[in-house]
Amino acid sequence: MHSEQDGLPQAADHLQDIIAEQEKIFVERQPESARMAGRARHSLAGGVTSSWQITVPQAVWLSHGRGSKIYDVDGNEYVDLHGGYGAALAGHAHPAIVEAVHSQVGLGTHFAQPTRSAVAVGEELASRFGLPLWRFANSGTEATMDAVHLMRSITGRDLIIKVEGCYHGHHDSVQVSVTPEADEAGPASRPAQVPASSGIPKAIINLTLVATFNDLASVERLLDEHPGQVAGMIIEPIMMNAGIIEPEPGYLPALRDLLHSRGALLTFDEVKTGLTAGPRGATGLTGVTPDIITLAKAIGGGVAIAAVGGAAEVMAHVADNGYEMVGTFNGNPLAVAACRAMLTEVATHEAYQRIDALRERAVAGIEQEITRTGLAAHVVAVGAKGCVVFAPEPVRDYRGFLGIDDRYSHAHWLFQHNGGVFLPPWGKIEQWLISVQHDEPDIDLLVANFAAFATAVTG
Ligand SMILES: Cc1ncc(COP(=O)(O)O)c(C=O)c1O
Repeated sequence: MHSEQDGLPQAADHLQDIIAEQEKIFVERQPESARMAGRARHSLAGGVTSSWQITVPQAVWLSHGRGSKIYDVDGNEYVDLHGGYGAALAGHAHPAIVEAVHSQVGLGTHFAQPTRSAVAVGEELASRFGLPLWRFANSGTEATMDAVHLMRSITGRDLIIKVEGCYHGHHDSVQVSVTPEADEAGPASRPAQVPASSGIPKAIINLTLVATFNDLASVERLLDEHPGQVAGMIIEPIMMNAGIIEPEPGYLPALRDLLHSRGALLTFDEVKTGLTAGPRGATGLTGVTPDIITLAKAIGGGVAIAAVGGAAEVMAHVADNGYEMVGTFNGNPLAVAACRAMLTEVATHEAYQRIDALRERAVAGIEQEITRTGLAAHVVAVGAKGCVVFAPEPVRDYRGFLGIDDRYSHAHWLFQHNGGVFLPPWGKIEQWLISVQHDEPDIDLLVANFAAFATAVTG
């Protein structure tokens, strides 16, 4: 995924040297992680519990987290801006979450019957996201799978539209054109339907049409080409699996109107943006309410839970069993207790004010360093999320993102890591997450490490 953006082979060599040096430091700091990785390879496939935990040069094994910090098995402390891929908005061991989980554990952790906390969560989600009725699941993947099923079930149509570069989890219908390479993505005016993984039948790939973000005409074309056949569209309203790409003004409301005019539904996948883009997610930020919203990650305060919300007509179809939305662990008492505490005690107005101030501090500090060093980069930040995009200008869709040289993100990640800040791995795809427990010194360390990185790569 490397481009010739930096042009000069000399610059590329310099970057490679920096990466090699930082990877060496990285490994030297973590002998116990290396030992664990060696042992794990005999019992865990690939030595990890999810393929996204395979980081280069080696997986980092953690021992615990507290507040805004996490600690690896070698005893190194990190300011945690990885946030468990955007789930740890509460930070770690937040007293309200600890208390909620602790109380529920003593009262039983699973019944497969509803408990009081479930209805409290439903009411809170309805008031935040403007959709009246909710159900639960256990992961973002399950939630978006239900949303896709629901759109198909209600309309009786098989086709769905997704956006090139959006990720919605690992079920078949959405494992299409997530991070296609340039040589397989097809023409920008007509993105190809590229399987994101092996194991996805071609027949299912064919049911997922691919549109371009911020391009209404690309959706209109697909609807025209398949009249009366598109059940709906699923989209990250703010793209957060390609750095961060924001919707242009007017795009989302026009998208909703266009889909409705063809009898199709709109799902906002707010698994990432949910509570992190702001207290009412991207839905609140943009003022556009879709037919269905999916949530997961941060809503559980670090405990696995997902939610699917819908308009009254949509969820009537669930209520009357037109679509059977099920799951043994749906609304699990432990998870809903943590989620309730997250919504009512952690993700408060004051917490967002604090996060806003920290975000502004991070953006200002990093932008100052970009100006000082002349690095071809800019910062995009929304709510608690943010990232450095290693391109001079904002990108508006996946094709703009595709051309960015991934090595800058990797070098930046290494500098941050070796300097005591744990950003999410996976290079240019991911963003930082500022939790409710971060403070100014945490952000200042992020900026200081960025300054060291920017000085090194431009030096
Ligand atoms: C926007 C979005 N939707 C869905 C998912 C899938 O969530 P999970 O990993 O909980 O299955 C992710 C995961 O990163 C995501 O970013």
